[in-house]
Amino acid sequence: MKKVCVFLCVSVAEKGSIMNRKSHWESIYSTKNPTQVSWYQQRPEVSLEMIERTKVGKAANIIDIGGGASTLADHLLAMGFARVTVLDISMAAIRAAQERLGPKAEAVEWIEADITEAVLPARSFDLWHDRAVFHFLIEEKDRRKYVEQATHALKDAGHLILAAFASDGPTRCSGLDVVRYTPEALQEEMGGAFELMETTRETHLTPSGSEQRFIYCRFRKR
Ligand SMILES: C[S@@+](CC[C@H](N)C(=O)[O-])C[C@H]1O[C@@H](n2cnc3c(N)ncnc32)[C@H](O)[C@@H]1O
Repeated sequence: MKKVCVFLCVSVAEKGSIMNRKSHWESIYSTKNPTQVSWYQQRPEVSLEMIERTKVGKAANIIDIGGGASTLADHLLAMGFARVTVLDISMAAIRAAQERLGPKAEAVEWIEADITEAVLPARSFDLWHDRAVFHFLIEEKDRRKYVEQATHALKDAGHLILAAFASDGPTRCSGLDVVRYTPEALQEEMGGAFELMETTRETHLTPSGSEQRFIYCRFRKR
């Protein structure tokens, strides 16, 4: 299995909060069936449609931030995308995705890391996808680091797709507070290095039958 080594350089206080974040997600994925978590999608339709609209070629280098046990990687491989990376803070989530994919997991690059601290190669990705990860960054310093990471790791004119709870969406997810967004607020967070190309809404039906309103924004790095 291909694996990227990640080196962290953070203060003791920051390390503590990252470990709390990590143990939270390890515990979720160690105790729950990935098809029963509220964010589960059998087919991430809106993400796949937005990815198609970027018109990136099949050789595009795509990274799914906080991909966890999402089926996005399965669908991308099936569509012929050959360079797919999944980054997640939880190794249990990554293992669940690898087990589901079986031998096809070899075709994916897996990174176990916190996105605010991961060491990513510069200007290497054509497309950055994040569904339901950025909205957990409730501290401004973490959101700033996230935007720095995307700016650093995306190629010029690269695409960034961000899905977060909408302003009329839930205030919490997986027992954690989230920040809810309008497209304008997400553009504000991403800053001048990113241009908003399109936005859409989705009402996600959780496995237990409740509705969660999401917004999806597609940005292009200037
Ligand atoms: C709500 S789930 C969404 C999973 C997936 N994107 C999907 O749509 O099915 C949030 C995911 O982000 C991961 N995560 C949370 N905080 C993270 C962070 N700071 N860095 C990397 N991954 C993180 C969790 O382990 C979890 O897999």
